[in-house]
Amino acid sequence: MSMLEVKNLVKTYGKGDSLVKAVDDVSFKVEEGEFVAIIGASGSGKSTLLHMIGGVDRATSGEILVDGENIAKYRADKLAVFRREKVGIIYQFYNLIPVLTVAENITLPVDLAHKKPDEKYLAELIETLGLTERIKYLPNQLSGGQQQRVAIGHALFNHPKIVLADEPTGNLDKKSGDEIVHLLKEANQKYHQTIILVTHDMSIAEKADRIITFEDGKIVSDQKKYHEEPKQADEITPEVEAEIERIEKSEEEHEGSHES
Ligand SMILES: Nc1ncnc2c1ncn2[C@@H]1O[C@H](COP(=O)(O)OP(=O)(O)OP(=O)(O)O)[C@@H](O)[C@H]1O
Ligand SMILES: [Mg+2]
Repeated sequence: MSMLEVKNLVKTYGKGDSLVKAVDDVSFKVEEGEFVAIIGASGSGKSTLLHMIGGVDRATSGEILVDGENIAKYRADKLAVFRREKVGIIYQFYNLIPVLTVAENITLPVDLAHKKPDEKYLAELIETLGLTERIKYLPNQLSGGQQQRVAIGHALFNHPKIVLADEPTGNLDKKSGDEIVHLLKEANQKYHQTIILVTHDMSIAEKADRIITFEDGKIVSDQKKYHEEPKQADEITPEVEAEIERIEKSEEEHEGSHES
């Protein structure tokens, strides 16, 4: 069973002449532990799709099966539990709770579930996010990039099955951006979390196992990453082979000359 299966998903806004098909009959599957990047022009429906998968927005029609359950049919209360326990969402425009500190914003999903936060992991995560010095700060005392990193901590802290990240590096410089992608990659490899990442940055998309391209609410391309063959295998051309032979021969001759 796939971790995620989206079937004929549609999201429209408005009516009549002003009708917008933000997501237009989209179907795809994502396996557990896959790291998928979604790219596409501004307005192509990427955020809309992510919000429906994350259970923060309702589909107009279609199915969203997460772990085999159609969340598109969930009632509001069940959807709230789904959001808290199964997914971690990093929004394009970070939305932190203004009255909570950095640490409190990160542990919120766990606190809401009345569980005890894993203090060791919290410290580790905050350290990785470079926020150790800011633990007690409120969101309005942080820079944009720092707020983004808190949002990422919030999404990852619960070890959700699916992490949905909407342009998580959009407000960061190259180095911080790379660190965030590294963190997501680690969540993917170490905890086998399924990651769906929306980005405009091709160099970031290329870190994923698969790239889905959106255009006008539709998938126009879906490509699994080409896994490089072991270098040796494809580099032994006849020329290389001849060169190896030549070197071996000359070495043999060399050895021969020593023996005599
Ligand atoms: N609440 C809304 N009401 C009406 N139209 C909306 C609403 N939200 C999004 N849309 C429209 O749906 C389309 C897709 O928007 P969406 O935010 O999903 O695009 P996107 O691919 O995430 O773009 P970007 O890369 O700029 O973030 C756009 O044409 C947008 O205007
Ligand atoms: Mg968007």
